[in-house]
Amino acid sequence: MIKYPMAFPIFGKEEKKNLLDCVESGWVSSRGKYIEKFEKLFADHCGTKYAVAVSNGTAALQLALMATGVQAGDEVIIPNLTFGATANVPMLMGIKPVLVDVDKNTWNIDVAEIEKNISKKTRAVIPVHLYGLPCEMDKIRKIAKKYNLKVIEDAAEAHGAVYKKRKAGNWSDIGCFSFFGNKIITTGEGGMCTTNSKALFEKMITVRNNGMGIGRKYWHDIVGCNFRMTNMQAALGVGQMTRVDKFIEKKKLIAGWYMEEIKKQQVEGYYQQEEKGATSSWWMFTLILPKINDLSELIKYLGERGIESRPIFFPLSIMPAFAKLRKSKTLKNSLSLAGKGISLPMNLKLERNDIKEIVGALKLYLSK
Ligand SMILES: Cc1ncc(COP(=O)(O)O)c(C=O)c1O
Repeated sequence: MIKYPMAFPIFGKEEKKNLLDCVESGWVSSRGKYIEKFEKLFADHCGTKYAVAVSNGTAALQLALMATGVQAGDEVIIPNLTFGATANVPMLMGIKPVLVDVDKNTWNIDVAEIEKNISKKTRAVIPVHLYGLPCEMDKIRKIAKKYNLKVIEDAAEAHGAVYKKRKAGNWSDIGCFSFFGNKIITTGEGGMCTTNSKALFEKMITVRNNGMGIGRKYWHDIVGCNFRMTNMQAALGVGQMTRVDKFIEKKKLIAGWYMEEIKKQQVEGYYQQEEKGATSSWWMFTLILPKINDLSELIKYLGERGIESRPIFFPLSIMPAFAKLRKSKTLKNSLSLAGKGISLPMNLKLERNDIKEIVGALKLYLSK
């Protein structure tokens, strides 16, 4: 029995009403009133001029690369610590990801490492706001401007995160979000691309719909794909947007409780640091335990006590799928986190005492 799951969706009356409306009206595919409504609500929340709903966060990354014109043979710079989709998408397009190290305090892409790894082939940087903590976007934009690179934010985990008063997804050419079931808001599967550029918005609308232009039916202006979101997914999204800020506030509250308990119970570990100007949306709370030898044993121990947990992402550079990628000379920070970090439950029903119990179990294991 899992007493404390990592995450689960929270739906209310609005989602049920909207979904029923789709089923009863027959508007279940990718046309219908909820798609544009969701896009408008999401763009407003993010502070961008436009948003384009897509089928999932992986599709959002592909749409962003296609729309910005990054092509086979080009290189993109990505952090070595992220979910595999950040690398999979360019690789499947014949684009080479270049893996660079992360900062030791934020675990986000180390800005100083970006410039060192720019080559003649580099076309874009994809910073990832890991676990909800926004990257140093002002510095990244500056480098991108200097070398004429595109910036695509992988904000799959960072809905509502803020860096220097600007939301994640509103700092670059295109921001990419995921609405998978464990994300801050969910549409089952789903994703979104945000932008302030009318040209990129129109290109994304066209690419999303198999390259058919706006206005002329069955006329293919460019090569595209089907990245469309369904009206049913968007119906859930519209409902979720009524509560997104509450969800984010609760995430922040839970993260704060973890920090308090870790200190109180003197757990020897550390977590991502919100550097000046950065406010995480705390999608995940991940703790590095420097002295841990066998993370899977700890995950099993917690599981037996009803506490779900998961390991920190593995650095891409150590996994077979990404063995052939160009790697930065030093990846020491990302490598040092491997096998040492555990993400703890962050579901929105958690209360103060639950966190005390979870950290208590962790402490007990570590004192064994
Ligand atoms: C950093 C990151 N990028 C991309 C994705 C892909 O999103 P999706 O699972 O919706 O395809 C995820 C999903 O977890 C992610 O965490």
